[in-house]
Amino acid sequence: MKQLLRVGLILLVLLLLLQPISFPITKATTSFVRTEANATDSPVIGQRIIPWRFAVYDEPNLRTPVRGTFAPQTVDIVQQQDDGWALIRTWRGNFWVYVRDNLRFLNQSVTLFEQIGGRPIGTMQSQLVRILNQDGNWAQISTWLGPRWINLQGTSVPDSQIPKQPPVIPPTTGQTGTHFMAWRFITYLEPDFRAMKQDFYDPQMVDILQQREDGWAEITTWRGNRWIYTNANRRFIEREVALHETARGPAVATLSPQVVRVLDQDGDWFLVSTWLGSRWVFLGQGVAPGTRQIAITFDDGPHPIHTARLLDALAARDVPATFYVLGSQVNAHPELAVRIVREGHEIANHSFSHPLLTRLSAAGIRTELARTRDAIFQATGVTSTTFRPPYGAQNATVRNVAAEFGYPIVLWSVDTRDWESRNVNAILSHFVDRNGNIRIRDRDIILMHDIHPATIDAAIRAVDLLLAAGFTFVTVQDLLGPQFGGTVHNRG
Ligand code: NI
Repeated sequence: MKQLLRVGLILLVLLLLLQPISFPITKATTSFVRTEANATDSPVIGQRIIPWRFAVYDEPNLRTPVRGTFAPQTVDIVQQQDDGWALIRTWRGNFWVYVRDNLRFLNQSVTLFEQIGGRPIGTMQSQLVRILNQDGNWAQISTWLGPRWINLQGTSVPDSQIPKQPPVIPPTTGQTGTHFMAWRFITYLEPDFRAMKQDFYDPQMVDILQQREDGWAEITTWRGNRWIYTNANRRFIEREVALHETARGPAVATLSPQVVRVLDQDGDWFLVSTWLGSRWVFLGQGVAPGTRQIAITFDDGPHPIHTARLLDALAARDVPATFYVLGSQVNAHPELAVRIVREGHEIANHSFSHPLLTRLSAAGIRTELARTRDAIFQATGVTSTTFRPPYGAQNATVRNVAAEFGYPIVLWSVDTRDWESRNVNAILSHFVDRNGNIRIRDRDIILMHDIHPATIDAAIRAVDLLLAAGFTFVTVQDLLGPQFGGTVHNRG
């Protein structure tokens, strides 16, 4: 029975995860780029509104890793340099932001155009761009492919109308005869990028019939003869990938599918030229390190000692978590609820007094949810948007009442059973097996309880382990997508 319940819970969370997370990118009407008018053009110390989403750095240097991005807000400028860098005070310490010049962080993907009002030629993922020119709602930005135009008011262009970038592949010493193509490649009917694209092939031996000086080679395939392009250090990256400062290092940004110039290679890692300078991408089989997203969740708090210690550790690592709090605990420790919200975590509803809700009437469940929703709002001014029933226990009444509140029910995919063992190694065994293999998978939701000291110790070690393995931590809302109030980080 217990096993059945467990399987049921996992199925439910899988169902939740399989909800329409992929959604069309809205290119409509949102004004996602601000004009230069309010930029801090002159050196000023004191309070200033930065009206766009901005990135912060440890040093006044765009080549150093981005330490985080912040929503538009008022900042305290401590120091302003002539070169456009300003040191600002944040709750995590002082950081540098670049406030001059026409650098903008585009907070959603945009359509690229050759000319103003012209044909759409591609899309570019959310990233930092340099604005070269502006003409009304149109801005010319610098991209690796050269200057391209974007519409600042957003444009509604169906993806199907956007031609794919011409796929190209890195150089080979390809000659007539059998040759090993060491990367994924595309075949064409004609030696011309505009010719109809045929098929993608995994790395394999090919038979080259003729190799032309311009880089095109004719090969035999089981479907007939096809052309492939074998020249130049260019490569079409067909999926969104994470950019890394160093091979195997932490991810610092994402790159949308596009043609890149390959500068260097180290195993499955490639140094490619991007607008921000050269960055490493992982192009091997399987999941690219840094693109796996997981949500770590903590139930039953906040606890005055353990939650506080956990928050310190998460802040030091810049890792967001989701806290399924009890309303009774929020009322007892509102300052911790404030910290949770202020430090960028998600706060969510876990009932008021942790009863088995399946034993309560609809009215009783309603009271539990309402008191916690109100406690969270009173303490933080934030409306919680998801709900996790105590013990994961639910029935039709629980689900109906949750729906009244607009709460999706969020369970978990990894249960660390920390409340049971209260033992660091036992808890860690749910993250990594005896051979040191990570047991966490992409899009896992991890269940822990920030009311036991061993949980905090284990959580800190697990977070370090998962960060080193290239996982990215997001809140539950961000993992599940916009219908849960989150921001979607990836297309599809
Ligand atoms: Ni609980």
